[in-house]
Amino acid sequence: MAFSVSSRLLHLHRVIRPAIVSHTNASRVGPQALVASRLMSSAPSYNFVTVEKRGEGDCVGLVTLNRPKALNALCDGLMKEVDQIMIEMDNDPGVAAVVLTGSEKAFAAGADIKEMQNKNFVDCYLYNFLEGWDGITKIKKPVIAAVNGYALGGGCELAMMCDIILAGEKARFGQPEIVLGTIPGAGGTQRLTRAIGKSRAMQMCITGDPITAQQAKDWGLVSSVHPPDQLVAEAVKIGERIGQHSKLIVAICKESVNNAFELSLKQGLTVEKKLFYTTFATNDRKEGMTAFVEKRKAKFSDS
Ligand code: CAA
Repeated sequence: MAFSVSSRLLHLHRVIRPAIVSHTNASRVGPQALVASRLMSSAPSYNFVTVEKRGEGDCVGLVTLNRPKALNALCDGLMKEVDQIMIEMDNDPGVAAVVLTGSEKAFAAGADIKEMQNKNFVDCYLYNFLEGWDGITKIKKPVIAAVNGYALGGGCELAMMCDIILAGEKARFGQPEIVLGTIPGAGGTQRLTRAIGKSRAMQMCITGDPITAQQAKDWGLVSSVHPPDQLVAEAVKIGERIGQHSKLIVAICKESVNNAFELSLKQGLTVEKKLFYTTFATNDRKEGMTAFVEKRKAKFSDS
């Protein structure tokens, strides 16, 4: 029973939310805006994040971590909200890509140390502490992390769960858990090592010292570095560019790239080939190639 009620609420939320959060439509006053404002009270509200739509056709979901007093420390409530919003974004047919960001001071300063302070082994082990944190990695749409300021511990790990990372010039990436007498627990020793190699990851994890945005770029952790006030706009631009393609084929491509982290080269190449063949069962593959031959812009139908 509880499941079906919450499913219905989720459905209602999906239907009304685009009208509520649309950035470009926000100032328009019309019947839709009026309906949206009336429905506002029934829409789920978030305590630790804000959600907007940006970019051409509102095709980019912008999720901003918003727990400024704790530098966006990743408390349980915040992570549950991020997880929920990612599912909503994935199910929203208008959204092509998601940008995840924080404030100019902090993307996220790590797991909430005050929440963790009194946990013991039993609390962690029996109740699967951090198990639900990887919701971002399970969605089909691309997620772009726009990292300004501190991305430490769980904050760095959260950024690494995303598909693309852009950094502001003053960003700092680090795994300082060693200073707290623990180790990274949400992918820091694994995703970081795959991203920048053993020596550099080892150094970061066992010294606890952070690296700058430029170092992160030189080491391949981030794609590009931007002035802090332009960072989100740059990430949205990438989301818009992705939005020009077929959502279906983008999802298949994302799946294939992500397999490179999980499989041997031989297995990965086999999966890639199968996914490549799969695109030949889609309308969008036919349309893309036909449009090229006919010298016109492709009109994808996400099918
Ligand atoms: N958890 C809880 N609260 C945090 C926090 C965190 N990770 N990081 C910062 N805060 C809080 C501070 O306690 C402080 O709150 P009060 O005002 O109530 O005291 C507030 O945010 C502002 O922080 P500072 O006063 O420390 O700000 P600063 O500018 O002097 O320093 C900082 C900034 C260098 C990021 C420093 O806050 C810091 O070192 N934070 C902890 C970073 C860290 O160790 N992260 C790893 C956490 S463990 C983890 O993430 C495990 C995992 O793998 C999942």
